Formats: sequence, C-alpha cells, structure tokens
Amino acid sequence: MAGSETGIKTSPMKIALIGYGKMGRAIESLAMEKGIDVTGKVDPLTPFKDIFPQTLQQADVCLDFSHPDSVKENIREAAALGKCLVVGTTGWYDQIPEVKRIVKASNIGLIYSPNFSLGVNLFVKLAAKAAELFNPFPEFDIGGFEIHHNQKADLPSGTAELVCETLLKHAPRKQSVVYGSKKIKDPEREIHYPSLRIGHVPGTHEVIFDSPAETVTISCVSRNRQSFAMGALLAASWIRDRKGFFTFDDIINQILKDKHGIH
Ligand SMILES: NC(=O)c1ccc[n+]([C@@H]2O[C@H](COP(=O)([O-])OP(=O)(O)OC[C@H]3O[C@@H](n4cnc5c(N)ncnc54)[C@H](O)[C@@H]3O)[C@@H](O)[C@H]2O)c1
Repeated sequence: MAGSETGIKTSPMKIALIGYGKMGRAIESLAMEKGIDVTGKVDPLTPFKDIFPQTLQQADVCLDFSHPDSVKENIREAAALGKCLVVGTTGWYDQIPEVKRIVKASNIGLIYSPNFSLGVNLFVKLAAKAAELFNPFPEFDIGGFEIHHNQKADLPSGTAELVCETLLKHAPRKQSVVYGSKKIKDPEREIHYPSLRIGHVPGTHEVIFDSPAETVTISCVSRNRQSFAMGALLAASWIRDRKGFFTFDDIINQILKDKHGIH
C-alpha cells in the first residue's frame, strides 16, 4: 500500500469511508489498487446512508472525509464501536478538546490533519525553515496565498491556517494573519494570506518572501487528490494498532527520524 514507499510496514487492512464525496471516492479507488478492502461507506447524499453502525463494524479503521458540521458526531459513533479513525475533514478544530476526551474515553486511536499529502506536509516544514531564515531580514516581507476549487466549504483552508501558524511561529516579527480579501493595516506585523476559490483546483499554496530587490517563493501544487488519498491510507495503516490522539506530523517526524535521524 501507500506505506511501502515510506518504509512503514503495512498488512492487509479493512477500511470504512465516512463521506463518499470527492475524497471518499479517491480513497476508494486507490484502496482498490492497493488491495485494501473497503468494507463500508456512509454518506447521506448517496445510496450508502443510514447504515450506521453495521457499516463500520467490519472495518479496522474508519476514514472521515465528510463535512465540518458532522465530524464530531461521526467520531463519536465510530469511537463507540472502538474503531480507530483517520479524520481528513477540515473546519472542526475548535472541537479538538472534546474530541480528545472522546478518544481517551473510548481508548481508540485517531489521527487528523488538514492535509494528508506528503508534499504539503514537507512544504510546511520548508516554510518553517524559510521563515526562520528570512525573519532576521525585515526588508523581506512575508505573505502568501492559497487556491482551491469553488465547492470548498471552508475559507481559509485548514492547510492555509497551518501554513500561516507555522510562519508566525518561525518568523516572530510577524504577529497576525489577514486572511480572505481583507486589506492589511500593519504590513510590518501582519501576514497577508488571501484565498481564491475557482474551478476545480485540488489545492495550491504559495509562500512569498519579498524585498525591494528580489522575490523568493516556495509553492506546492497538488495535481489531483491522489496525494491526499495516499497519505490517508498511510495514516490508516499507522493508526490501526495505536491508541491516542495524533497528527500526520507524528508520522512524518517518525519517518524523518527513522530514515535520516532528524526530527
Ligand atoms: N485532510 C486532507 O488531506 C483533505 C484533502 C481534501 C479534502 N479535505 C477535506 O475533506 C472534506 C471532504 O472533502 P471532499 O472534497 O470529499 O468534499 P465533498 O463535498 O466532495 O464530499 C463530502 C461528502 O460528505 C458527505 N457528508 C455530509 N455529511 C455527512 C455525514 N454526516 N456522514 C457522512 N457523510 C457526510 C456529503 O454528502 C458529501 O458527499 C472537506 O472538509 C475537505 O476540506 C481534506
């Protein structure tokens, strides 16, 4: 499965899909290629509705790519069955404390990320390093933007927030982020990071360091949803035998440590 590329050993696995939209379908098609069994699907907008909890019963891991409004209830239902979860749905992070309580009380494993793409996660690490390098040079302003398809529910995207939080942490001369199309008031302390919603773009992020004389950019462009699906399946194989609350960064850090001795 996807894990073989990264050196994480995997074994045959059964998964259930909560949410059978663009991502649910992308995961299903990759799972079929990798010989992973999709034993259940739940989605109110498809024929696979109202079959909780039998739908989830046979699965080793449930993968939730649904809607921010339903994610906590979905986690509660899967946790009640003792199922480990991969949560890719974005826009629910104010509920993390409550979800952590559910995970602990049910003694399951849950791994979440606003973005399960390996490339994006390594891009965030690059952005952290770049922010550290550019922070002492105030002639370089720091900003960026994101582009996603026009059906996306959240704005800014969860990944945009992750990128900006990373920039703030590693470039302390910047103290806040202006998202959306709002005008910035304090260019010295604010990061401008607008969002464009257009067509079918799976996800583009660009971070810019700009001085009067030159511009340095780092960008990550997803060509399709396969990168997210690969990461989600890697996360499923990683979480199936673990208990606790994790992020995708825990996997990346483990791989970096095992393969390169860095953290
Ligand atoms: N973490 C990542 O790597 C990653 C990547 C892409 C998208 N996403 C996120 O995943 C989510 C889904 O994205 P998508 O592109 O597949 O969206 P989508 O709109 O194509 O599909 C979402 C599906 O969830 C279903 N749904 C709604 N409520 C539900 C419920 N209570 N139970 C089960 N299903 C329910 C909808 O009917 C719909 O079919 C979004 O939050 C998106 O931001 C995350």
